[in-house]
Amino acid sequence: MDKFVITGGRRLEGTVAVSGAKNAALPAMAAALLTDQPVLLHNLPRVRDIATMGRLLAHMQARVEFPWHQWESAAKTGSSPGAARLRAERISHAEAPYELVRTMRASVLVLGPLLGRTGYARVSLPGGCAIGARPVDLHIKALEQMGAEISTEHGYIEARAPLGLYGAHVVFEKITVTGTENILMAAALAQGETVLENCAREPEVTDLAALLQKMGAQIEGAGEATIRVRGVEQLRGAEHSVIPDRIEAGTLLAAGAITGGDVSLLRAEPRHLTAVLAKLQEIGAVIELPAPNSDAAGLRIRGPAVPAPADVSTQEYPGFPTDMQAQYMALATQADGTSIITETIFENRFLHASEMARMGADIAIDGRRAVVRGPSRLTGTSVMASDLRASAGLVLAALVAQGETTIDRVYHIDRGYERIEEKLCSLGARIRRVQEPTRG
Ligand code: EPZ
Repeated sequence: MDKFVITGGRRLEGTVAVSGAKNAALPAMAAALLTDQPVLLHNLPRVRDIATMGRLLAHMQARVEFPWHQWESAAKTGSSPGAARLRAERISHAEAPYELVRTMRASVLVLGPLLGRTGYARVSLPGGCAIGARPVDLHIKALEQMGAEISTEHGYIEARAPLGLYGAHVVFEKITVTGTENILMAAALAQGETVLENCAREPEVTDLAALLQKMGAQIEGAGEATIRVRGVEQLRGAEHSVIPDRIEAGTLLAAGAITGGDVSLLRAEPRHLTAVLAKLQEIGAVIELPAPNSDAAGLRIRGPAVPAPADVSTQEYPGFPTDMQAQYMALATQADGTSIITETIFENRFLHASEMARMGADIAIDGRRAVVRGPSRLTGTSVMASDLRASAGLVLAALVAQGETTIDRVYHIDRGYERIEEKLCSLGARIRRVQEPTRG
């Protein structure tokens, strides 16, 4: 398992490009199952989860062409990297096995497309992860409303719709991102109209709808709380470039802010980051937006010398994203005062707090609230990554810690960030990736 060795104390400055959004690429790849025609996707991030989804589709006999060698060269030159050509001409194996699903919960995104395309799906229950139980009961309930017969036994979801799915009026009890995406894909091939209420409004949902519309789906209202889908007989192939990763962009901006640096992002989409930008400005950062339709340097942040404290509560989009909470906590440890962070989405998403405390942060956890008192002088030590975004928070803390910090289990980071250490080093950070021989 690889480690990062980070020497803190460097001010970050310069320009770096943002990769495509992992959480837009994953549903887009799953959508390829909805047609027997080729789907060509661009701007895919070269991260572990994308490879896992590729393996999952290949497991179902979908033809997956990842020109990885092109990615190596494209990634080196910083030009927009990944492209993948997917074609699920026939699906002889409508199953997502445990071995793959346990490494990536988002595999559940094949459930809706498989059911919509073949009338059958057998998908391992994703199970929980470090940040919470992560149930998929709302996905199942909505598909049952659309006529699927679903059983969950022996750790698998087995779904059948021998006569096909039919349109229904689905009201999500809780806002669920992949739940909205799964039902959107299932409804695209259902008989009749499906109305989805209390939908997730994340840009990744809107991006998926844009791809589905290119494939011939009849969708209205994506990005709003209510979406209407009129099912069609079949969908065609399409070509689509996924949106930039707003969480990677937010993470890189936070790195500029926490080091009091001056960082510009290329290919970021500021409109997907309004809550994050507002919070960064509230703590004293200066943000410069690119002129509209300009291809000049993108989104710029100049960090405050000392961040001001500010409370934050994570919310569904367009609120402050839960995926930026750990990164914000690192920033709050440097603020000149007390910040209260409330995590409203996941029940156990403060695992990074204890690791930051070992670096010298003053954080008191009280259920869903974390009280962060700053400024704390952080010192380098060995810490453990626990999940994708907690690891990003630890990297940010290490950037300002005195001395050397070793972060273990960076495979968590590699799942969702494309070469983050190279991007941060290009801005002046001192990070080494140490390859650890995988034990026995
Ligand atoms: C998506 O996860 C993202 N993953 C997560 O990003 C992100 O943190 C999350 O949305 C919230 O924004 C992908 O898009 C691949 P939810 P998802 O369903 O869809 C509860 C990352 O870092 N819920 O919106 O799994 C659930 O427990 C990952 O890239 C149910 O109760 O999240 C949670 O409390 C981490 N029943 C809340 O809803 C359900 O059937 C929101 O979950 C579904 C969800």
